[in-house]
Order: sequence, then structure tokens, then C-alpha cells
Amino acid sequence: MTSPGSPLDRWASGERYEAYVGRWSRAVATTFVHWLEVPPGARWLDAGCGTGAPTTAILELGSPAAVLGADTSPDLLARAAGTVHDARARFVLADVAHLPVDDGSVDAAVSGLVLNFVPDTSTALAEAVRVTRRGGAVAAYVWDYAEGMELIRYFWDAAVALDPGAAQWDEGTRFPLCHPWALAGAFDRAGLAGVVVEPIVVPTAFHDLEEYWHPFLGGTGPAPAYVASLPEERVTALRDRLAERLPASPDGGIRLSARAWAVRGEVRHPRS
Ligand SMILES: C[S@@+](CC[C@H](N)C(=O)[O-])C[C@H]1O[C@@H](n2cnc3c(N)ncnc32)[C@H](O)[C@@H]1O
Repeated sequence: MTSPGSPLDRWASGERYEAYVGRWSRAVATTFVHWLEVPPGARWLDAGCGTGAPTTAILELGSPAAVLGADTSPDLLARAAGTVHDARARFVLADVAHLPVDDGSVDAAVSGLVLNFVPDTSTALAEAVRVTRRGGAVAAYVWDYAEGMELIRYFWDAAVALDPGAAQWDEGTRFPLCHPWALAGAFDRAGLAGVVVEPIVVPTAFHDLEEYWHPFLGGTGPAPAYVASLPEERVTALRDRLAERLPASPDGGIRLSARAWAVRGEVRHPRS
């Protein structure tokens, strides 16, 4: 499966990424690492590690021998390297489709919120399979942009209501891989065995509209990059529309949830 990519898929600031969805990815990663049940002492690859959400969960919960984080964003990678202080972790600037990793040299190759952003999912998965030993795990999670990732779903529904042209940027339609059947199909086609897909749902609570809205002004990630492309009056209109549509409690709090689909499979064949 290939994705045409978009000028909105920008990963410029680690700090802003954390405020936007990095913090929610950390919550998903905790459940994800438990779910994988990779034995202690394993060598892990975190492909598209960003600011280090899966890497951190692996280090805290997975008792790994080593974790290699690889990403193409220098700023996000610098934040990961600057905040993860653990001798078992190493970070490298590299594309998930061309990893500087030997064949069959890791026990588990994982990625969080990455597969829908790579230009060719099958190439990225083939690379994950290449570097993973026979019997090892390849696993990933992506947001359910079409439905269950509510903070982003509300955003695009509001943006498209104000400007139907924004539909071309809506991650719910742009990323077919956000559906469980598509994820399972991609893993099956990669030759992985025993493919399983599970939902992981985490609460995303905001004290008020401002706390929800501010991360969308950071320019990092597709929705914030879309906001950065708008003139000021349209930014204000979008914020006002969200203020009308988001479900606020009497105390002003906005309590949403974020669903990710997690997928895993086992490497069946050694690669030649
Ligand atoms: C939504 S962020 C996810 C970051 C992190 N894995 C997490 O769970 O928070 C997507 C990440 O994929 C990285 N990325 C996108 N395309 C990539 C590629 N071809 N190779 C390596 N990293 C890539 C971006 O730089 C960014 O850090």
C-alpha cells in the first residue's frame, strides 16, 4: 500500500509534537508493550521513534537488552536522545525503508503512529521483516483517524464543515491504513504469521478548550500544519466551530478518548 504523502506531514519540532500527540502515544505505547509479551533481554527496533514514546515504554516495561530508535526527523530524534537517558537505548537518523541494521539481528521491530506516513508501507514492512530474526515479532499501531481518535476526528469534521476543500487533508480518508482490516492485510502480505489486530483506547482529557486547541497551533503534524496554512480569520472560525461542537462538561472540561489499532505478526522465514 502506498501513500502519496502530503506537505502537511511535517515533523519539525519535538517539543510541539509531544504537546500535540506524543503524550497520547506514550499512553498507547504502555499497553502496546504489555500486549506484545516480548521476553526480557530482547533486542528491539523502534522504527520511526519520533520523540521516543515506544522506546520509553520498552525500556520501562520490556526489560530489553537494547533498543534502537530510528527516525528521519532530526528534531524529534534529538528530543528522544536528549530525554531518554538509558545506556540500552541508541538513536539513529534513518529511513524505516533503509535501516542500518543487519539481517535478522533484532527480536522485535515495532513502530508507533508511523506506517501511514511512509510512502510505501510494503517496503517499510519488508525492511522490518528483514531485520527481525525468525520467530521474532513485527508490530505497530496507528491512530483510528476515521473514527476513534476523537481529538483529531473533531478537528477534521470542523475543518471540512467550514471548507469542503479540507477533505483532501482529512487523515481519516487520506490514511486507509487506519482501518483494522487494512492493517491486517498489510501484515499478511508482508508474509507475517499469526497476524492479530487489537484496539488500544486511552483517555484524552483537557481542562478546557484552550488546552485542547493550543497544540493545534504548533505546526507539527498534519492537522497543526493545516492550521498554520490558514489566514488568521479562518483559524479563528475553526476554533469557534470546535468550541461549538466539542462535548464540554459543565466545568468546561473536554473528555475524549483516542483509539489506536495495534497489529502484530511473527516472522516466519529467514530472509536470504
Ligand atoms: C506521528 S509521529 C510518531 C512518533 C513516535 N513513534 C510516537 O509514537 O510518538 C511519526 C514519526 O514518523 C517519522 N517518519 C515518517 N516517515 C519516516 C520514514 N520514512 N522513516 C523514518 N521515520 C519516519 C516522523 O519523523 C515522525 O517522527
